[in-house]
Amino acid sequence: MKIAPSILSADFAALGDAIARVEAAGADQIHVDVMDGHFVPNLTLGPPVIESIRKRTRLPLDVHLMIEEPERWVDTYARAGADLITVHAEACRHLQRALTQIREAGARSGVALNPSTPPGGLEYVLDELDLVLVMSVNPGFGGQSFIPTTYAKVRQVKALLGNRGVEISVDGGVGKANAGELARAGATVLVAGSAVFSTPDPGLAVKDLRSASEVAN
Ligand code: DX5
Ligand code: ZN
Repeated sequence: MKIAPSILSADFAALGDAIARVEAAGADQIHVDVMDGHFVPNLTLGPPVIESIRKRTRLPLDVHLMIEEPERWVDTYARAGADLITVHAEACRHLQRALTQIREAGARSGVALNPSTPPGGLEYVLDELDLVLVMSVNPGFGGQSFIPTTYAKVRQVKALLGNRGVEISVDGGVGKANAGELARAGATVLVAGSAVFSTPDPGLAVKDLRSASEVAN
């Protein structure tokens, strides 16, 4: 299981410290939430912040684009230092093209699905995919409650992916209480914002999440 702390819940004025703490605790990648105020009703950060983060950590940067027409920005985010770029299926008119573009830019490609988006369409982009991000809240904010239909969806996505080695990431309301069941359902990456950064000891929270997911397996 990979643990990907989402910096959305960290102190934006002390991002370097927040990242150093979870890196020291064994986090596998840093999840960076980019929101444009259109695709989701909130604004966060963009390429310059990602460039700064890139200089502060050796961990892969897992950039989750919650933006309209992400195709226009893929190259910029790859240049800024994103190792994995995830676009929303709902935001791409030409998903297959967007995924191809991500790989051509030198990053790994991900597709995110909102809670009400069925996974069937993935069948036609399997060869262009490195990761599926199953949203377990409606994107836009940290600290929301986990939607329980996610478990069934993760199982469905796992069946669809077969043995291709595509990762399954779950994002939203993830914490110790659901990490085990998500691992059993087939999740390979757990994204957690408030469960990590809204606690007094983010490093300990990363370790707790990992053990909660491993006990289950
Ligand atoms: C939500 C973001 C998440 C967010 C999760 O739109 O995509 O990555 O940081 O935060 P928590 O873990 O607090 O639900
Ligand atoms: Zn996210």
